Amino acid sequence: MDLFEYQARDLFAKHDVPVLAGEVIDTPEAARAATERLGGKSVVKAQVKVGGRGKAGGVKLAATTDEAVEHATNILGMDIKGHTVHKVMIAETAPEILEEYYVSFLLDRANRTFLSIASVEGGMEIEEVAATRPEAVAKIAIDAIDGVDKAKAQEIVAAAKFPAEVADKVADVLIKLWDTFVKSDALLVEVNPLAKVASGDVIALDGKVSLDENAEFRHPEYEELHDKEAANPLEAAAKAKGLNYVKLEGEVGIIGNGAGLVMSTLDVVAYAGEAHKNVKPANFLDIGGGASAEVMANGLEIILGDPDVKSVFVNVFGGITACDAVANGIVQALELLESKGEEVTKPLVVRLDGNNAELGRQILDDRNHPLVQRVDTMDGAADKAAELAAAAK
Ligand SMILES: Nc1ncnc2c1ncn2[C@@H]1O[C@H](COP(=O)(O)OP(=O)(O)O)[C@@H](O)[C@H]1O
Ligand SMILES: [Mg+2]
Repeated sequence: MDLFEYQARDLFAKHDVPVLAGEVIDTPEAARAATERLGGKSVVKAQVKVGGRGKAGGVKLAATTDEAVEHATNILGMDIKGHTVHKVMIAETAPEILEEYYVSFLLDRANRTFLSIASVEGGMEIEEVAATRPEAVAKIAIDAIDGVDKAKAQEIVAAAKFPAEVADKVADVLIKLWDTFVKSDALLVEVNPLAKVASGDVIALDGKVSLDENAEFRHPEYEELHDKEAANPLEAAAKAKGLNYVKLEGEVGIIGNGAGLVMSTLDVVAYAGEAHKNVKPANFLDIGGGASAEVMANGLEIILGDPDVKSVFVNVFGGITACDAVANGIVQALELLESKGEEVTKPLVVRLDGNNAELGRQILDDRNHPLVQRVDTMDGAADKAAELAAAAK
């Protein structure tokens, strides 16, 4: 889960990473009071989860409260790289900025370790620096057990060639930033710029944080960080039911067991759709290993509730949960939905294979539900589901 800058700012503050005051608002007029609280001037910053806000005109200095309102008026509603600005942060203005640095910690999956990236050439063009002058960007691996102590922080500072007069301060920020990274179970913490200001202090002026949602169970405080406004209502409903669901653009609803199988189901449906009015998968939904009637009913309820869905492809490979259990799950799920008054009107194509496939197919045949069709190959079922979706399109 990516955080907004203001949320990153709050998280940094909690772990003593030096930041400036800032408050988030969503109306232009609120910019006035917030700027007054900061002594009459501020920086108005668009809160969108995308970089390059400064270049896009989403970060503006306001020398007066009137100017703050004017900037907030312009920035609220602005589109930055496809993200609409719903909130702005009214931030304290940094004292004269002398230099802008870049520091981050992230999970380095490829090398099975953590990584720190640091550069004295931070600011708005860091991607370009990394591409054109990689020698200006230091990358130091961080051991998960050893973490970042004073010696490690100094190693990073030396590798990135931070000037001597800020070396200790930057090292101190690195230690605190690592602490933030570990304690909040982050996948990324990035500060750009880490600014050296006239007093000689270094301050985090912009932060990007990505939290590991797999660690949510030990962070009840994550809950309020979710961006409820941006969440798709179907995705939110699926999440509430504990389902692994992602809404997509197409017309063929997909249910499968196992993320790998669901991913390849998306592929075969997209391919089959080419021959049927270009229909595409409408979602990703992995109901996992234990496809009980309840889980199947929850999954079907979400998918059938999507007005874009014209047909559903249930693709199950029986393993530990055998096909007969899944078939019973499907039959009971349909009964459950119908008993709840949710009439099922969209055709379902079911492909069962693997453990106890014959038994599972028999259960579906015996039930003989008018909307359920059984197709025994994955390609054949994908083609049938695409054909049915195209016919209803
Ligand atoms: N509070 C602030 N005070 C003064 N200048 C700021 C402040 N916040 C950002 N800036 C300036 O604006 C630039 C862009 O802002 P930043 O928050 O990094 O957004 P982005 O990276 O999305 O462009 C920074 O590099 C810095 O020079
Ligand atoms: Mg920035």
